[in-house]
Amino acid sequence: MTPKAPSEIWSAEVNGEPVETLITSNAILLDVLRDQVGTLGVKRGCDLGTCGCCTVMIDGDARLSCLCLAGQVSGRDIVTVEGLSDGAHLAPIQTCFAEHGGSQCGFCTPGFLISAQALLTKNDSPTDEEISIAIEGNLCRCTGYQQIVDSIRAAAEIHRGEVEPAPPASDPHPNPHPEGPDEPSMPPGHAR
Ligand code: FES
Ligand code: FES
Repeated sequence: MTPKAPSEIWSAEVNGEPVETLITSNAILLDVLRDQVGTLGVKRGCDLGTCGCCTVMIDGDARLSCLCLAGQVSGRDIVTVEGLSDGAHLAPIQTCFAEHGGSQCGFCTPGFLISAQALLTKNDSPTDEEISIAIEGNLCRCTGYQQIVDSIRAAAEIHRGEVEPAPPASDPHPNPHPEGPDEPSMPPGHAR
């Protein structure tokens, strides 16, 4: 029988909040984030370091959480996709992905958003080549990548202050159905 790895207290700053939890010394960061911290935006794709779905930012650098022991990043500053928005206000990179078709099925999107944000935080005027290098570890089966590059370019313009960001998603919207839809009437003989 394989001996059980010893447990240890793991603490880190996740999306600006201090987190403390008990982990085994061989726990993988992806598992800790999803199963213990509850940041389910961090996706498990391949578990092998090839798809980029599990990308998180650690001290500002994009890293694959499936290849990272949680213990190695104890005490560090971790940002997952949940930490990009300011509450209900999406970050420019998120609105640009939505507006430019950078997200279709969406499974790869959290990883791309983190890789892109890590780039833009350091370089708000990336060339197309720099964008390609930043996302080279992220795979997408839907978009063909061009829309993703377009989204990152558009977000860079907002970061540089050349374009106004989209209005916050939390602005009050008029409720189109304040009383709720009318109850449909059923023809005689049709039970609900
Ligand atoms: S799940 Fe980490 S790279 Fe695929
Ligand atoms: S949007 Fe579907 S895999 Fe990228």
